Amino acid sequence: MPSARAPRGTRDLLPDERAAFARLESIARDLAARYGYREIETPIFEQAGVIERGVGEATDVVEKELFRLAPRSDERETWVLRPEATAGIVRAYVQHGLQTWPQPVKVSLVGPMFRYDRPQAGRYRQFWQWDVEAIGDPGPAVDAEQIDLGLRFYHEAGLADVDVLLNSIGDGACRPDYVAELTGYFARHEARLPDLEAARLQTNPLRLLDSKDPAMGALIAAAPRIGDHLCGACAAHFAAVRVHLDALGVRYRVEPTLVRGLDYYTRTAFEYYRRGAEGQQQALGGGGRYDGLVEVLGGRPTPGIGFALGLDRTVLALAEADPSAVVAAPAPLAVVVGADPAATVDRLRVAGLLRAERLAVRAELGQRKLGRQLEAASRERAHFAVILGDELADGQVRLKDLLAGTQRTVALADLAGELRRADSRHRHGEAV
Ligand code: HAM
Repeated sequence: MPSARAPRGTRDLLPDERAAFARLESIARDLAARYGYREIETPIFEQAGVIERGVGEATDVVEKELFRLAPRSDERETWVLRPEATAGIVRAYVQHGLQTWPQPVKVSLVGPMFRYDRPQAGRYRQFWQWDVEAIGDPGPAVDAEQIDLGLRFYHEAGLADVDVLLNSIGDGACRPDYVAELTGYFARHEARLPDLEAARLQTNPLRLLDSKDPAMGALIAAAPRIGDHLCGACAAHFAAVRVHLDALGVRYRVEPTLVRGLDYYTRTAFEYYRRGAEGQQQALGGGGRYDGLVEVLGGRPTPGIGFALGLDRTVLALAEADPSAVVAAPAPLAVVVGADPAATVDRLRVAGLLRAERLAVRAELGQRKLGRQLEAASRERAHFAVILGDELADGQVRLKDLLAGTQRTVALADLAGELRRADSRHRHGEAV
């Protein structure tokens, strides 16, 4: 085994896998444009405080999973690799005064995120998200629009069996009372709490609802539910989100214990799972409303909502759903080969002319015999071979249709046009 390896929890995306990611990125960008979201880019590292205050000090992400950067020991600022995009986007919204733009500001970003987590299938230390944010709209219609947008991404990607789990986790008016009641409930059962959960009870009791420890199952099932403690405004908001989802025909399941792992959420919270995989802690994506976050990061009180879908987990789910659907390497339209194995200059020159005409062409740059060159072209499923020989001196080449097995002589000046015409006839299923 080679001694130099990618860092634990990271992966190289070799061309087939990179192509699968590129396909998802292009679906995401296309959908974002159709739903009125413009692209934004923020740095992949932020001041530590932006993430600590934004995501919340008592979250796994901040407590355990931040990659801290210390380029110089005398540097007073500290930075962290971004574990998610929302805090950085909201920081940019405040920093650049985007509250003076027409609201809501709707932005989307595709990029790598970093969490120092225990690596396993679908859980990496560098992973990719498609992140979507609408800042400045209190909802409820935009909540439903976003939930529908995320679901549409999975459908267009080819995953039909994705479920939406939905909850409301209240706001500053109703959640404190609920958290106090929840804390009392778990405190009464403290003897039954695993160590991690007992510690969490002091710092972030809501997270106990999210515990995947089997010992917690029965306790969680009998715990008080946030849905029974929503204030009037939060209950009305949640009901209105559901009315909009129903009207759009978006199917969802209300999950009373869904709380999400980041601290900024208020009211609407949702997650996407592959059907039947809800118990496995591996959401395909998730998001929710964060009506207090802009203020936490120094802006005027401004509502917001967003979600992020994990591209790595989507690629894994697609491969599981249909292992045969790997993205094949694209075949070149033509390969330029030659009777004289040494005439690489001619082959490069002719390939260059065709590439300038925006055609996908490979030039044979090795010095093997013509028969071998043609075999290689067929193997890579090229449609045509452009064969250079003595007639090149008169401005002519031979054009061999490798699929049809036919061959004719073509003037070099007409070659690009001929290739384009023949290729489009082929694409439309006509005989060449
Ligand atoms: P999150 O639930 O922490 O939310 O992450 C969203 C998605 O990112 C997950 O559902 C998962 O697909 C993917 N993901 C997270 N961690 C990993 C990992 N270690 N390896 C592979 N994939 C991972 C957020 O990040 C929020 N910023 C979403 C949001 C946007 N809320 C409002 N706006």
